[in-house]
Amino acid sequence: MDDPYRDPELVPLYDIDNPDGEDRAFYRTLADELDAHSIIDLGCGTGLLTRSLATPGRTVIGVDPSQTMLDYARRQPGADSVTWIHGDASALAPNATTDLAICTGNAIMHVAPGELPRTLTSIARALRPGGTFSFESRNPARRAWESWTPEATYHERDTPVGHLREWLTVIDVHEGRVTFDAHNVFPDGEDRVYTSVLYFRSAEELRRDLYAAGFTDVAYYGDWDGTPLDDNSRIAVFRATC
Ligand SMILES: C[S@@+](CC[C@H](N)C(=O)[O-])C[C@H]1O[C@@H](n2cnc3c(N)ncnc32)[C@H](O)[C@@H]1O
Repeated sequence: MDDPYRDPELVPLYDIDNPDGEDRAFYRTLADELDAHSIIDLGCGTGLLTRSLATPGRTVIGVDPSQTMLDYARRQPGADSVTWIHGDASALAPNATTDLAICTGNAIMHVAPGELPRTLTSIARALRPGGTFSFESRNPARRAWESWTPEATYHERDTPVGHLREWLTVIDVHEGRVTFDAHNVFPDGEDRVYTSVLYFRSAEELRRDLYAAGFTDVAYYGDWDGTPLDDNSRIAVFRATC
């Protein structure tokens, strides 16, 4: 296995590591403000946010390429209110009917440069004219990967799969593409090492990509509360109109 999102023992830890917070609150508020009746959550993962969006009168679709994440999502309370699709953006129906598409938890950073234009175009084709796409992506100016050292990230903890020792090691940084290993040492001593690649893109780069895919009115902020983006911002939060 080369992907932590496909490890059936680690996937249940995802919601423990990423509990509900201001990011999910932002997307829920946005959906309410837009009075969105149809929502697509691309890269929905365990579906914590997806399920909470599925209020009465709404159609919510969760899409993810990890079958393990989707299997977990489908077992959670409220999962029946969501339509789960195994796949990436190419699985979205180009029916121009959706009010809101989101891509959260920095999921867009998993999309390789060669895939990004197609991904954004597929999202645009699923949205109705005037529909909204919102997502966040880590700010490369903050250089978060510099703190992903074994010393800074090492920790031990008790989990439902036993006592784990975990740490990160950056393997390569090249033009915004950061490759790193996540070590997960299980109680029997097995070290499951997952190599992940994240694509850090500047807000201006992403804005250009969004316009190229047909979006208009692209705006971005440096936090969930609308703070302007600067070099210290951890993330860039985007909102674009179709
Ligand atoms: C960090 S998780 C985010 C999950 C969820 N959106 C959240 O906010 O907690 C990243 C997710 O992106 C998914 N992913 C990876 N590559 C993707 C792609 N090309 N298109 C859509 N999703 C992708 C992974 O399977 C994983 O579930």
